[in-house]
Amino acid sequence: MGLNQLWMSLMMVLLLHGKWWCDGSYFSNSNCGSMSSWGGIPNCCNWEYVECSPITGRVSSLYFGINSSRFERLWSLDNLEFLDLSFNRFNNSILPSLSGLSPLKSLILVDNRLKGIINIQELNNLTSLKELNLQGNEIEGFKSSHGLRNLELLDLSYNHLDNSKLSYLKGLSSLKSLNMRYNSLIGTLNMKELDGLSNLEELDLSGNKIIHFEALRDDRGLSKLSKLILDSIFSYGGNTSLRNTSLLHSLGAFPYLKTLSLQNNCLKSIISAQGLPNFKKLEHLYMNYSTTNNNFLQIISNITSLKTLSLYGCGLSGTLSQGICKLEHLQVLDIGYNDLNGTLPWCLANLTSLQQLNLSSNLFTGNISPLEGLTSIQELKLSHNYFEIPISLGPVFNHTRLLQFHAEGNEVYADIEVHDLIPKFQLETLVLSGLGYGGAFPKFLYYQKNLKVVDISYITMKGGFPFWLLENNTNLEMLYLANNSLSGPLQLPIHSHMGLSNLDISNNGFHGHVPMGIGISFPMLQVLKMSRNGFTGNIPSSLGNASFLKILQLDGNQLTGSIPNNLYKCSYLGTLDVSDNHLSFRIPGSMGNMSSLEVLDLSKNNIFGSFPPNFNPSELVFVYLSENRLQGSIRNSFYGCSKLITLDLSHNSLTGTIPEWIGRLSFLSYLSLSYNSLEGEIPNQLCNLGFNLIDLSHNNLSGPIVPCLRVNEGSGVIDPRIESEQMKWITYSYLLSLSRMDLSHNKLSGEIPPEIGDSTSQVLNLSHNSLTGPIPSTFSKLSEIRSLDLSYNHLDGKIPPEITQLSLLAFSVAHNNLSGPTPANFLTFDESSYEGNPLLWGPPLPKSCDATTISTDVREESGFIDKGVFYVSFLVTYIMVLLAIVAVFYINPYWRRAWFTFIEVKIINCQYFLEDNFCVLFKFRVP
Ligand SMILES: *[C@@H]1O[C@H](CO)[C@@H](O)[C@H](O)[C@H]1NC(C)=O
Ligand SMILES: *[C@@H]1O[C@H](CO)[C@@H](O)[C@H](O)[C@H]1NC(C)=O
Ligand SMILES: *[C@@H]1O[C@H](CO)[C@@H](O)[C@H](O)[C@H]1NC(C)=O
Ligand SMILES: *[C@@H]1O[C@H](CO)[C@@H](O)[C@H](O)[C@H]1NC(C)=O
Ligand SMILES: *[C@@H]1O[C@H](CO)[C@@H](O)[C@H](O)[C@H]1NC(C)=O
Ligand SMILES: *[C@@H]1O[C@H](CO)[C@@H](O)[C@H](O)[C@H]1NC(C)=O
Repeated sequence: MGLNQLWMSLMMVLLLHGKWWCDGSYFSNSNCGSMSSWGGIPNCCNWEYVECSPITGRVSSLYFGINSSRFERLWSLDNLEFLDLSFNRFNNSILPSLSGLSPLKSLILVDNRLKGIINIQELNNLTSLKELNLQGNEIEGFKSSHGLRNLELLDLSYNHLDNSKLSYLKGLSSLKSLNMRYNSLIGTLNMKELDGLSNLEELDLSGNKIIHFEALRDDRGLSKLSKLILDSIFSYGGNTSLRNTSLLHSLGAFPYLKTLSLQNNCLKSIISAQGLPNFKKLEHLYMNYSTTNNNFLQIISNITSLKTLSLYGCGLSGTLSQGICKLEHLQVLDIGYNDLNGTLPWCLANLTSLQQLNLSSNLFTGNISPLEGLTSIQELKLSHNYFEIPISLGPVFNHTRLLQFHAEGNEVYADIEVHDLIPKFQLETLVLSGLGYGGAFPKFLYYQKNLKVVDISYITMKGGFPFWLLENNTNLEMLYLANNSLSGPLQLPIHSHMGLSNLDISNNGFHGHVPMGIGISFPMLQVLKMSRNGFTGNIPSSLGNASFLKILQLDGNQLTGSIPNNLYKCSYLGTLDVSDNHLSFRIPGSMGNMSSLEVLDLSKNNIFGSFPPNFNPSELVFVYLSENRLQGSIRNSFYGCSKLITLDLSHNSLTGTIPEWIGRLSFLSYLSLSYNSLEGEIPNQLCNLGFNLIDLSHNNLSGPIVPCLRVNEGSGVIDPRIESEQMKWITYSYLLSLSRMDLSHNKLSGEIPPEIGDSTSQVLNLSHNSLTGPIPSTFSKLSEIRSLDLSYNHLDGKIPPEITQLSLLAFSVAHNNLSGPTPANFLTFDESSYEGNPLLWGPPLPKSCDATTISTDVREESGFIDKGVFYVSFLVTYIMVLLAIVAVFYINPYWRRAWFTFIEVKIINCQYFLEDNFCVLFKFRVP
């Protein structure tokens, strides 16, 4: 066999066995030695490697080094049909060197370094070339308009083409699809330039700043153009209204369009039908995120050929125009995320071809009976409106093709169920969570057998665990029943269910033991949430059999015993929350080996003993171990958890010093070690970190306050990369702690370092220490501060008058040795903020400057700061976070729901807290 034949056979292998390559195998310089097993193919080391194209997903991309001399080898690949050289650094000189590859059909050169004017003639020998992808280079134009007569697909997106160079494309007479997204086309586009592209069907000009199309004189030119994509073409500013009108008018240059996409534009000025050209054949109109005016639905109803109308997030308001009912051919109607209100018009029944309808996130009211006539409907999205939805789903009972029913965030009510009727639908997705109801499982559910996703949470539904739903629907993957009034034991289906991956029964009245076999019944579980029920007994060791388990939340039950060792073997387990139970165990060393654990919440249990040495789950991000009985030092634990954001070990019996390695946990933002018995000095290394919360209060720490300790401004911005599953912990931290430094109730001594004035902390508590010296005048720079407590120290000197510039809501310097006048115009605070400073005078103290009486009143040791100040600052912080979060949720509907779930839970917790602690809180008032 000659060399050439060897190469040929190699390429045949690459093309025919592409799938093999896609499995992730590739050659590289390091493993090419093993190539001999491929029949001794030579010179493979000229290649960098071979793999799938990340852009096209197609096989056998050959990647080369930058040295184009290596490239000559390709000349002999004379059977090569597909060549992907994306993400290299080839420049214009690559083109002539490809001319020997005449059978080439596809050439992909995405993200290389082609620049300036390209000579297309250099590719003239590639007579079979059908697809040329030059996306993401710096091409400005072409030198010649001859050649590539068979080219059908040309992708020039993300280059530097301007209007003047378009005419060079004229010669591409076979071209069917031309993509020029995000180039430098500006202003008026003369379609004459593209005359000759008589086979062009699809043209994408998105992301250019086109304001007008100059039509061709006759229909000769772009008569086959059926798809035009003009997303994001408007620059803002200037006379937008005039520009839009002009642009829409000029679309008359394309009378035969079937598909028009105008997404992400501002089209407010479409005020009359005259604004729209007479599209005779338009079938698909996409205008998502293009703000338009209220008449638009009425106007659009004249384009009766429409099959798809997508107006998601267009700022539409008022009631749904009856005009929409004239679009009798509609198959897809998406008007989600607008401000449409009122009831649905009955004429919707005319839309008998409609397959997908999205009305979600509007302000619609009333019943959904007008949907009864949508006989072809497959997918109904009604979520987040004010619809009243009967639990029987009567109005859609007869829709034989209905697969998806999404109606969360509406009011669900009990209607008279049609007992002897069987629904004609077999749903795959049912999302009905919302408000109201309070009855039993709806009858229609008993007839479903194809369900994959069922979410019927938050409707105070009654009954037991619907094990029959799992028995009937073997494909069920997700079952959400949280926040209902379900009760009784958790009854498992008879046979193992091989489909279920998510089960959430949190916040119900389930009780009894967690069934021993739960992990065997649901071996594919990834998410199991059973929080806040009445479960007792042990955590079953069979959970270890659910080897894909990622999230386990059993918090807020009455579980006893320990965590089964089997669970530590779930190598995907990322969230383990068993907080607020009666678990009693010593943390085992094996927990430290959990390789995926990110969230560990064992707080509010009876966990005892010290941490096992070298306890360092490497992926840990959030750790809550507060309110247990942990002992010993933390010196030999957590030091390797370099991703930690939150470490809460408060309310335990930890001893020893604060380890210096904490300063190396560079993401640590929330550190609470309060209510322990830690001693020694605050290590300097903590200065390496920017905290949002540092709470070291109620320990035996001594020595000076480290001057460089930083507390960042609480931004209230939640990192969007953080999974919604982790929201609970993030929000929890923010609520309790937004930007707070609490070093109170220790034995800290020395002066307050002036650097503390640079802090952007919102709460600063240094009370109950032995601090001496003056209040630094730099405190006037504490611009964010809302609560400042310096009480119960030995501070002396005057209160800096600049302190009145701070927007404080809570303030105390009581029980120090301060002297001089109280700050003028700072009367928000009463006597208790200043008392216990014998040499301090002026309002609101009863003493004037000549008073000699020395106040001897000794206030109760607890001080007010633990109550009043905390609650006020908490409230302020809360409001600020809330505003930030509201802004975030306004944009993201999923988080919005997660948030409301969270708030409800917290309200319940808060109520329990108040009930439990009412007497304690108000003890001192009781005579
Ligand atoms: C095109 O191919 C012919 C032979 O098939 C060759 O002679 C010629 O040099 C090639 N042209 C280019 C520009 O490489
Ligand atoms: C729809 O077209 C008819 C004539 O075909 C015209 O009279 C009417 O004004 C148009 N309606 C709208 C809303 O543009
Ligand atoms: C519906 O929206 C329109 C326009 O925003 C408003 O004028 C009208 O009062 C709303 N109707 C109802 C019932 O809310
Ligand atoms: C709906 O269809 C009926 C009969 O087909 C027709 O009389 C009625 O005008 C239509 N309604 C609308 C709003 O087009
Ligand atoms: C569904 O069909 C049955 C008869 O097949 C009929 O009695 C019932 O009224 C229909 N329901 C609706 C909502 O159209
Ligand atoms: C679903 O389960 C219930 C209770 O076991 C049973 O009555 C019903 O026939 C089942 N439905 C289907 C479709 O299997």
